[in-house]
Amino acid sequence: MATWFNFNMQNSASPLMEQIIFFHDHTLIILIMITILVGYLMINLFFNKYINRFLLDGQMIELIWTIIPTITLIFIALPSLRLLYLLDELNNPLITLKSIGHQWYWSYEYSDFNDVSFDSYMINYNKSDINNFRLLDVDNRIILPMNNQIRIMVTATDVIHSWTIPSLGVKIDANPGRLNQTNLFINRPGIFFGQCSEICGANHSFMPIMIESISIKN
Ligand code: CUA
Repeated sequence: MATWFNFNMQNSASPLMEQIIFFHDHTLIILIMITILVGYLMINLFFNKYINRFLLDGQMIELIWTIIPTITLIFIALPSLRLLYLLDELNNPLITLKSIGHQWYWSYEYSDFNDVSFDSYMINYNKSDINNFRLLDVDNRIILPMNNQIRIMVTATDVIHSWTIPSLGVKIDANPGRLNQTNLFINRPGIFFGQCSEICGANHSFMPIMIESISIKN
């Protein structure tokens, strides 16, 4: 979960989120290299005395500074596309969870079982309870088995919401009148938190998502 002064990505709890973090670090390294290079060149411009009245073009340098950024972009684009398609892949899920966004709470349906559905509201912060998480705790948690493919169906009833869980690498819009699909695979037990991330009204900040990951035997 997110804690104070945590400027980095949350720890991953799924293989895909691990891949997303690797890609993030990879892209950030490239970004830092470009920033340092351009910064060095710009600072240098202020202090050198290079003057050439007759310089109009330079075919070779223009070729170089066109091709090098192209190659750099390919190094970002190819892993990005790989990830994009991996995130969309879903084969043979064990169960399906349907999550429905409302102003301002989520409700869930376990479509594989008859009549299992519930609302999930944020609960008040209780200072004396060490297991109570401010602005993240809900009255009814989602309970899902770990180490299994899970299909998520997402929709909404009023406005657009977004079902987002950083540690699982899931972020998908909940649109009224549409049914979106995504998937997740939790590789450890624990409680994972998410929040709505589509500005959906006055209480947008107060419709958290809480997933309890347990062994399939339980
Ligand atoms: Cu629902 Cu923001």
